[in-house]
Amino acid sequence: MKKLLILLALLLLPLSARAETRLMVVSDTHYLVPELYEGRETFLQAMRQADGKVPQYGEELMAALVAQAEALRPDALVITGDLAFNGERASHIALAEWLRKIEDAGVPVYVIPGNHDINVYRPVRFLENGWEYTAPVTQEEFAAIYAPFLLPKEGGDNAGLSYHAEIGEKLWLAMLDVSFYQGSAQTFGLYTADHRDFLKGVLDQAQAAGVAVISATHQSVLAHTQFNRDGFLTMGSDQLAAQLVQGGVRLNLSGHLHIQHTAQANGLTDIALGAFCITPHRYAWVTVADDGSISYEARALDDRYLPEGFAETSLNWFKDVSAEKTRSGLLTLGLPEEEISRMTAFSSRFSAAYFAGTYGSRDPSWREDPDYLLWLRPEVSSHSAYMTTIMDEENSGLLTWECPAAPREAAP
Ligand SMILES: [Fe+2]
Repeated sequence: MKKLLILLALLLLPLSARAETRLMVVSDTHYLVPELYEGRETFLQAMRQADGKVPQYGEELMAALVAQAEALRPDALVITGDLAFNGERASHIALAEWLRKIEDAGVPVYVIPGNHDINVYRPVRFLENGWEYTAPVTQEEFAAIYAPFLLPKEGGDNAGLSYHAEIGEKLWLAMLDVSFYQGSAQTFGLYTADHRDFLKGVLDQAQAAGVAVISATHQSVLAHTQFNRDGFLTMGSDQLAAQLVQGGVRLNLSGHLHIQHTAQANGLTDIALGAFCITPHRYAWVTVADDGSISYEARALDDRYLPEGFAETSLNWFKDVSAEKTRSGLLTLGLPEEEISRMTAFSSRFSAAYFAGTYGSRDPSWREDPDYLLWLRPEVSSHSAYMTTIMDEENSGLLTWECPAAPREAAP
């Protein structure tokens, strides 16, 4: 009888009494408004030589994101930068309309800029034959366009558009804008004294209020990969990581790499979310229980919200772009066509898995694959360093992460 009463009481609890806070996280949407590219072969040619993203399906992807958010109804949707394809004002304005649909469905949206959002040098509009320059945005214009999805900036001028968001009663987000775009946008991030002071204020208040804090940046706070390490990392990341750990932060949400990847050091975990614009179109589902324990899961957009066959189309696009780049490199070595085909097929399959976060160095089948062995010959070593290095990375192939509640301080 008592169990029945408890069950009834639970069923009658209002939704707000749910014992966890739920976040949906997305990064690197790289949304390009159709008026800047539609029907132009010049655009598709450029994309065939890019990194596997599919902005030509931006409308389908955004419609799917809206539907996914409506279905899941998280307590907030967080986007960790690189909202626009390459900083076009027209793309930002159109993307804000998509985000408005998500808020209209009752899901608050919070964004920070990335290195492709503010003061980008000469973004372009694709034409039938070539391109023309189109308007970028300044920091002030970005803040105005995304005003419904940002809170007023906190901290000094060098803290960018940093702010904190209070999600329910048990979780705060420290949204750290570390992108460097004074003058024109740079790839790296920068942690300044203004970021430190802003973060100190947030962490002190959160500690006093007894709420958990998750931080979010575009550039990583911990090193993920040996390749282009400095371009992906926030300059001053050692000090930033130390401040986060000292303030009780255990999870930083980042993007920028376009690769789903986890890095850990000294009690802090930085999870770079796979780019939304690249197969398998990742979002993260993060839950924070009232006791402070955190659970992270990298997911792919649900097929039901995308056109039929979309997942395969996007995966094949990524593999084809990757294979074409690899092939052109190998052709310079004069290898037989049969070997080139096997090597490119392997490397594009490997690369797709690595970006998706599904390649795991603990799985020996990759290293034992006869087509991979072709890559280990000395005559191709200048082309295989990327693959052989990441093949041994720790923390690869992790799509989930759990963190127990922080130990409570003993009562005096
Ligand atoms: Fe990006």
